[in-house]
Amino acid sequence: MGEGSRPKFSEQSGGKRMNEALQKIGVVGAGTMGRGIAHTLLRHGYSVLLADAAPQFLTQAIRSISAGLARDVEKGRLTEEARQQAQGRIETSPEISLMASASFVIEAVTERFDIKADVLQKLETYCPSDVIFATNTSSISVTRLAAITRRPELFVGLHFFNPVPVMKLVEVVLGAETSPETVEKASQLASALGKTPIRVNDYPGFVSNRLLIPMINEAAYAVMESVAEPRAVDDVMKLGMNHPMGPLELADLIGLDVCLDIMKVLYDGFHDSKYRPCPLLEKMVYAGRLGRKSGRGFYGYPGGKT
Ligand code: 3HC
Repeated sequence: MGEGSRPKFSEQSGGKRMNEALQKIGVVGAGTMGRGIAHTLLRHGYSVLLADAAPQFLTQAIRSISAGLARDVEKGRLTEEARQQAQGRIETSPEISLMASASFVIEAVTERFDIKADVLQKLETYCPSDVIFATNTSSISVTRLAAITRRPELFVGLHFFNPVPVMKLVEVVLGAETSPETVEKASQLASALGKTPIRVNDYPGFVSNRLLIPMINEAAYAVMESVAEPRAVDDVMKLGMNHPMGPLELADLIGLDVCLDIMKVLYDGFHDSKYRPCPLLEKMVYAGRLGRKSGRGFYGYPGGKT
């Protein structure tokens, strides 16, 4: 099932670490980012409440988190005892009411305004009014999402990077009404997860995607105009600029649909033609060539999805 067609949450139903007040963290959405965030929280001693309206996503998430924690033991990042404890600190549910006992909630559902708005409205009904809501949005306005809730001062962007357990950055995005205390608590959480929080204001693409996605878009133009084949474009950036992955390999990792959506956010948000999406990127998305997740993007992924 594509993430866009996933079921919605129903209306009804029902770590011993440094910051005591932030022990039980809710994560809504068990896709790539949600499960990466949950894994990282568990690794760092937090208890996790993970909700996703699609039960099969929860099953897959538990499998991938368990594999990640086992890998942590193999690599000496966790003891076997700590792994067993971490494994026991996650609770899952297809009901968003699970979030009622979270002391901090991170929303990581599909990157669509209507889907996020629906989740935030439901969170409002279950979570106490002093709980901070963080969104892992990669491009939707944090200020606009905050305005859906009755707690815009307790609303902040926490933008993690894929693969979450590995990448060091968390962009802490300040909406127009986000309070300094909320920014501080969100930054502390990112630091406690071994990440470096960098504070940015809420403008389209924040800093990361305002720089990264136009580079990917331009790489797609270079292929469209036959300047070079994808492999050559990527090698130029890897060998000439020391990027760990070329822009087109990275686009396949992120998802070409996600890259295109972010380009559109930049184009619409700045009203500037310099952010025009590359027609080749659009064509590939129309064709269902979304990158690793569909088995084919700028490169093929034999054996299916990765
Ligand atoms: N999930 C979890 N862990 C992963 C992973 C994944 N998908 N891919 C790699 N890793 C882990 C490996 O397990 C390994 O960890 P370990 O050996 O310590 O357990 C570690 O990463 C290094 O992996 P490898 O040795 O296999 O490979 P590399 O050294 O080539 O590193 C990489 C892989 C970390 C993915 C590296 O290529 C890289 O940094 N690429 C760039 C990634 C990037 O730019 N991400 C940001 C995307 S933009 C984004 O997310 C924002 C959004 O809004 C669009």
